[in-house]
Amino acid sequence: MSTSLRPVQHLVNGVPTSDGAGVKLTRVLTQHLQRRLDPFLMLDAFGSDQPDDYIAGFPDHPHRGFETITYMIAGRMLHRDSAGHEGLLENGGVQWMTAGRGVIHSEIPQQEEGVMEGFQLWLNLPAEAKMCDPWYRDFKAAELPHTTLDNGVEVIVIAGESHGVTGAVQRPTTEPLYLDVHLPAGAAFEQAVGADHNAFVYVYRGEVDVAGTLVASQRMAVLRNEPGQDLVRIEAREQPARVLLIAGRPLDEPIVQYGPFVMNSNEQIHQAIQDYRSGHLA
Ligand code: FE2
Repeated sequence: MSTSLRPVQHLVNGVPTSDGAGVKLTRVLTQHLQRRLDPFLMLDAFGSDQPDDYIAGFPDHPHRGFETITYMIAGRMLHRDSAGHEGLLENGGVQWMTAGRGVIHSEIPQQEEGVMEGFQLWLNLPAEAKMCDPWYRDFKAAELPHTTLDNGVEVIVIAGESHGVTGAVQRPTTEPLYLDVHLPAGAAFEQAVGADHNAFVYVYRGEVDVAGTLVASQRMAVLRNEPGQDLVRIEAREQPARVLLIAGRPLDEPIVQYGPFVMNSNEQIHQAIQDYRSGHLA
């Protein structure tokens, strides 16, 4: 079998910022990487034990044209939306929300102390699905498909498929793969990812070696797309490590973002703003 490792193209430091009502976070996948990492639009990492950094949460705000996937490593957050969904997201849980033609929601911490840590990923919708009905699902940690490999590597399969385990969510067009991989010290993990799918690794504990490149904690490694290089290999070093491996098939469609709206044209953005102002978004 002639398969070779997908090397790291470049490393990315996140950009510290704040969003919502002053939640401090690191924007790992920023707007200028949207084309490079199509179909992914954003990845935010939040993590703090200082309540002032998170307590105000994200009061009511709209979305249109894409999906948000929130993965809570530690903490408790209550979600409510205009489609009538309500859910408590806590330790190890995932909330997958398809905004489609429009959702107005709030995401409010349900804790006044302790650590709040997690990620929010934005996955684009294909042009023909941007105005679909909103969809929402909460997965508690115990409900997430997972497996432990012979070498002790634990894989939580949020989307896609890994080592025979089908993930919690599948999407036909973008075929997202979203894995949380926990590696014991010295252990390696391999995953086939088609070279035509954009892929990146984000390290949130320890440090790893990705096909010969050292990737430190809180760094994102963007992987190259070369034909024949379709095996991702991640190896922990002297310490255990935890990483997200995220990949998907690019849409190759125009991306026009205005804040919480991501569409294909300026006209569609103007329509979203008008719909929101006139109370017709959701
Ligand atoms: Fe939101």
